[in-house]
Amino acid sequence: MANSVYASAQLARSAARKTAVPIVGVDGPGLAAALSGFSPAQRAWTEANGFAARPDTWLAVPGPDGTLAVVLFAPPGDDKTPGDPLSAGKLARTLPAGLYCVGEGHGDPSRFALGWGLGAYRFTRYRKNGRPAPRLLVPGGIDAARLERTLAGVFLARDLINTPANDMGPDALEAAVRRLAKRHDARVVATRGAALLKKKLPLIHAVGRASDRAPRLIDLRWGNSGRPGVTLVGKGVCFDTGGLNLKPGKSMALMKKDMGGAANVLGLAGMVMAAKLPVRLRVLIPAVDNNLSGSSYRPGDILESRLGLSVEIGNTDAEGRLVLADALALADEEKPDLLIDMATLTGAARVALGPDLPPFYTDDEVLADAISRHGTATADPLWRMPLWPPYDSWLDSKIADVNHITDTGFAGSVTAALFLKRFVRNAAAYVHFDIFGWCPREKPSSVVGGEAQAIRALYALVAERYGG
Ligand code: BES
Ligand code: ZN
Ligand code: ZN
Repeated sequence: MANSVYASAQLARSAARKTAVPIVGVDGPGLAAALSGFSPAQRAWTEANGFAARPDTWLAVPGPDGTLAVVLFAPPGDDKTPGDPLSAGKLARTLPAGLYCVGEGHGDPSRFALGWGLGAYRFTRYRKNGRPAPRLLVPGGIDAARLERTLAGVFLARDLINTPANDMGPDALEAAVRRLAKRHDARVVATRGAALLKKKLPLIHAVGRASDRAPRLIDLRWGNSGRPGVTLVGKGVCFDTGGLNLKPGKSMALMKKDMGGAANVLGLAGMVMAAKLPVRLRVLIPAVDNNLSGSSYRPGDILESRLGLSVEIGNTDAEGRLVLADALALADEEKPDLLIDMATLTGAARVALGPDLPPFYTDDEVLADAISRHGTATADPLWRMPLWPPYDSWLDSKIADVNHITDTGFAGSVTAALFLKRFVRNAAAYVHFDIFGWCPREKPSSVVGGEAQAIRALYALVAERYGG
């Protein structure tokens, strides 16, 4: 396992350092100094290639025998515009095959290695990656085990999201949870189909019952009692057709990623368990297909929730908040110290902040500050948005305890978060993440496809908060 993560991140644990080609960081003003140790032939080569260390360029420089001696790398960004802190990821996809090491001129070598590892990711389940890839020697003196855990968590989340819905239904998602649990000695209980009604999880049942792939709640537990309780809840909608209020084709196209919240909390759980953080971890995943059939739930239905609140259904495409409502209510019953949910919940979050900056919502100022701080420190972008109290009444229903959507087009991510908040009453701290779970345009640390968001920051938060 450990080796396979390093292998797929194109990282080498050890090798003769002298066989590795150093990658040297340069910028325009510093180029002359960087070239001062070069031979006349190497300087001529650099000049002949017109390499001026413009941001986001690199040049491979040969030694006297024509083999690769050094790579000059000018990262993106300049004095005015900061570049991507994980820019080394691009090198993992563009350098020729071979073994490299982190040379002079980079800020933090662990950041370089992280960027490289994230950028090296490929989804190879259905088609192998033919290109022989370069490998990076893990720099000495960095926390290699932490890097490995981080990459394993991110890759797990990406793999689960990238797997199409025909191979990632509720059953397959449960199997993935069980595989993760087995690796870390965790326990898993799943409540499936009609048993959801007996166990009083009616909203999960209502959303998932139209599919011939049984809906379920997957419940993973790990760690000794007596430790602080950290509960992660992830939206596991394996495919979101929109139900009876069917999505148009273009909006449905990517909906295999609607289990992105589940994928992300599983990636995070993997990091926490691999690090053996001293917490009592619980992961709850409502896993369903939001499908259509004669047994679909309908707009206008009024459904009882686990908490007892009656919920008037506005649009069956707002299914995520329903399955989360029951899962959150269940999580909340044991008063966790920290309750985190992650969900590909609204298109509105993308309208507000775009695909790469997931909003989070919490009323806990200390928690919010810590999350923002860790987001910056781990180069894992996120942005706080408000649980704006005056909008809460927009969810009032005339005939039920609560409407599940509002009748305005405004603040859709905020009102979805306010809906969820109604189902959390006892947790000592609660935060909700409305993630996109997808990288729509290639960037250094990621190719187009499923994306882990906020989990590197959240791992750092949990590690700091509960010691580890
Ligand atoms: N899974 C979608 C939200 C989504 C869409 C996330 C695209 C990321 C990208 C969710 O179930 C949904 O359809 N939400 C609706 C809610 C609306 C009907 C109130 C939305 O955002 O349009
Ligand atoms: Zn939906
Ligand atoms: Zn959805």
